[in-house]
Amino acid sequence: MLPLFFEASFRMRAPDDKFPPTASRLLEAAEAFGTPTYVYDEAVVRARVARLREHLKGLPLRLLYAMKANANPALLKIIREEGLGVDVVSPGEMELALRIGFLPERILFSANNMTDDEMHEAHGQGVMLNIGELSRLARFGEAYPGAEVCVRLNPAVGGGHHAHVVTGGERSKFGIPVADLGRVRALLRKHDLRLAGLHQHIGSGIMSTSLIWRAVRVLLEAARSFDELSFINLGGGFGVPYRPGERPLDLENFHRAIVEPLKAFRAAHPSPDLTFLFEPGRYFVAEAGALLTRVNTLKAANGRLFAGTDSGMNHLIRPAIYDAYHHVVNLSNPDGPLRTYDVVGNICESGDYFARDREIAEIREGDVLAVLDVGAYGLSMASLYNLRPLPAEALLPAAPGAAPRLLRPRRSPRALIDAFLAEHTGRARATV
Ligand code: LLP
Repeated sequence: MLPLFFEASFRMRAPDDKFPPTASRLLEAAEAFGTPTYVYDEAVVRARVARLREHLKGLPLRLLYAMKANANPALLKIIREEGLGVDVVSPGEMELALRIGFLPERILFSANNMTDDEMHEAHGQGVMLNIGELSRLARFGEAYPGAEVCVRLNPAVGGGHHAHVVTGGERSKFGIPVADLGRVRALLRKHDLRLAGLHQHIGSGIMSTSLIWRAVRVLLEAARSFDELSFINLGGGFGVPYRPGERPLDLENFHRAIVEPLKAFRAAHPSPDLTFLFEPGRYFVAEAGALLTRVNTLKAANGRLFAGTDSGMNHLIRPAIYDAYHHVVNLSNPDGPLRTYDVVGNICESGDYFARDREIAEIREGDVLAVLDVGAYGLSMASLYNLRPLPAEALLPAAPGAAPRLLRPRRSPRALIDAFLAEHTGRARATV
């Protein structure tokens, strides 16, 4: 039984947002699979899908999952079971989606700066292309006159939790500026292309309904003049709360301010089968993930207390590149007195941290910490920097009482180097 204080300070989400029973299961996973390990809670993913659907009720709707947030095959299968399609941004993501069993017509290929080969590969697979450059649209038209296509527009509105994740507006490389719509129309006519879909994605980690609405209005205005549209894809970008007490995106307000106007738009549009798409990544998986890491070294230096872990920016780069906040809890000593720590990794960079100046229940060497809300853009952005292996991955199944399940083991450093050398020399045991 976990102490009350711990219950209050622990924040891995429950499907219903009440205090979750997952703390003891996280320790169980750390015990069973060691550290560092990413753990995903199936029930949270399913609950997030259900919640978003609930708030989009009444719209002719298709949901896609932006696979870049987390391409773990077990999560992809859960997402597929939930009836979602996928947004993919590379041939690798497309290949994985097809092998997981997503039908080509449930996949949207949104690679930017795609090559001719990538274009032919996607089209050949029967996957719709989402094109965000005029020159690519021209080449697609030359190769496949009469085909269907989706065009990504830049609605001149952008936002997000950090400048690096803003994908709309005048500094963004993404999408065709809405001001160039006339040129889009000319290319469609020239190559007899059918504009099946219009798309936008203005950024990531957005917490403001009014910002989303500003961009949606621009896209709807553009969509008004295309009678044959099958879908309007309004992108992803739905933010999640990372800090204790932070308010989640107000989906009730979202429903009133955006879903209702979309319904009205649909009623007035000439296309009989117009459907709305959204393609969130973070919203479905961020809160489902925790990174379990063990503290190897405690160091008091210059008035600071460093808790040095067996993981780092190689496994979770968000704090380093966005100064992102991830809540950290001490699973091993939940009722210890609060002390202020810098929680750092084992990588040779000063940006290698999970938390700075953070109050955490007293940490002892050997304690297991959980870094929370890392299900999105955690492992998917991890690297082999410093030649340290990736963390293991495990699932907390939704079935009551089910034990944590190992999805992917951690490689030993030796196995990592065997693979590394084999790629370089063709021989795992080479002396180079
Ligand atoms: N659709 C497109 C075309 C995208 O580029 C993205 C994300 C999404 C959908 C999904 O966005 P989401 O719903 O997850 O916000 N590494 C950053 C996030 C970069 C997102 C890039 N594009 C982070 O860790 O915050």
